[in-house]
Amino acid sequence: MNETIKLIAGDMEIELPVITGAENEKAVDISSLRQLTGYVTLDPGLGNTATCLSDITFMDGEKGILRYRGIPVEQLAKQSSFVETAYLLINGKLPSHQELTQFSVLLNDQSLVHEDMQKFYGNFPPRSHPMGILSAMVNALRSFYPELENMTRQDALDMVVARLISKIRTMAAMSYKISRGHKVIYPRPDLDYCSNFLNMMFDNPVKPYEIRKECVDALNAFWILHADHEQNCSTSAVRLVGSARVNLYAAISAGIAALWGPLHGGANQAVVEMLENIRDNGGNVKPYIERAKDKNDPFRLMGFGHRVYKSYDPRAKIIKQICDNLLEALELDDSLLDIARQLEEVALNDDYFIDHHLYPNVDFYSGIVLRSLGFPTNMFTVMFAIGRLPGWISHWMEDSTDPKWKIYRPRQVYTGPTIRDYVPINKRDSES
Ligand code: CMC
Repeated sequence: MNETIKLIAGDMEIELPVITGAENEKAVDISSLRQLTGYVTLDPGLGNTATCLSDITFMDGEKGILRYRGIPVEQLAKQSSFVETAYLLINGKLPSHQELTQFSVLLNDQSLVHEDMQKFYGNFPPRSHPMGILSAMVNALRSFYPELENMTRQDALDMVVARLISKIRTMAAMSYKISRGHKVIYPRPDLDYCSNFLNMMFDNPVKPYEIRKECVDALNAFWILHADHEQNCSTSAVRLVGSARVNLYAAISAGIAALWGPLHGGANQAVVEMLENIRDNGGNVKPYIERAKDKNDPFRLMGFGHRVYKSYDPRAKIIKQICDNLLEALELDDSLLDIARQLEEVALNDDYFIDHHLYPNVDFYSGIVLRSLGFPTNMFTVMFAIGRLPGWISHWMEDSTDPKWKIYRPRQVYTGPTIRDYVPINKRDSES
């Protein structure tokens, strides 16, 4: 028998169907609630609300599980490539040799950016944040590549998907080069996705960049770990904006804007800034722990806590290992890593963090990995955005091919003034 939940609303009793997910998670389907009872649900931050059914990513915050299309992220980070993982997320299956080659060829073909776009980069003020620039430029892609409507849907989608995944990396490297007043380095057809990006970022005519396997592997795993995370803030933004049936570029641009926030993707930058601050103030982590616990202080320990993970973030475990390996391979000694380790140890043994289930999240060590690879702090969130792009695309596709698709249009509970008359300006008092 199908499971239901009984709800007593005023003097009515209704039964609501229960939906069971593939991993046995349960959801009460309230889609008929307002029609049957006149009531809506209130869930600020949507922590108790599933906004969709999704086949893409499974996570269990209590057990620290993350799987893309059923495959544990640990296996993907160790054995897959970012391009292959992107294919998996977008197409729902691992590619064959031939499919992967075709996808890689398409990515290579799409890797150049319209030359006129460079002029835009040159006109942003020097201190512009790269995330603002990236969001604007991804939106601008629609003007440079408007041919979407002239193609059959599947062709158009394949092309637009490859264009975005390939060009976002060229655009990110280009913005970095232009911001430094350096010559733009073009993508090379002989390099894989990650090596190409590192080369476009760091090669220059007087100091050729040496592409090291350790760096490529670390970047590859970093991007795989960021590739999707079900209905997080930026993915929800992509779904919400996409639900109005805007073009994919505009929806992704909205996702980039959401990711920029320090409580979301911007946390990797905020973590390194916090660690630098601790270092510059003598390296003692204890006052920062005390501040994070003080309810009268808005300070939070950046890189700690997660809406869903109430145990160790599985991505954080992997990135911590990558961080250790990379620093050893590059023979780097980063004082920020020592501070991060101390902070983690103190926090994990502190009652406040234990009681609140606050563990390091993916951003806690990822900033140190990116620093070691040579990325400046303000590029960190851009790195997250490149990684998250395949996830955003898969969610946009899932939504736009859903026969039960609806525009996002939540309700509210109005708490403002009840009806009152308009008061002409010369008769108003301070209460009007
Ligand atoms: N430091 C100190 N206290 C914290 C922290 C923290 N980093 N995170 C949560 N808390 C406390 C918070 O004060 C609250 O305490 P109380 O119940 O006593 O009032 C309790 O834990 C619950 O916090 P919340 O804000 O209601 O939890 P949330 O699920 O809305 O927020 C979060 C999740 C990630 C926004 C939050 O943990 C946070 O601000 N962390 C720091 C920023 C960060 O690292 N963000 C990256 C998230 S992972 C990357 C991604 O996927 O975006």
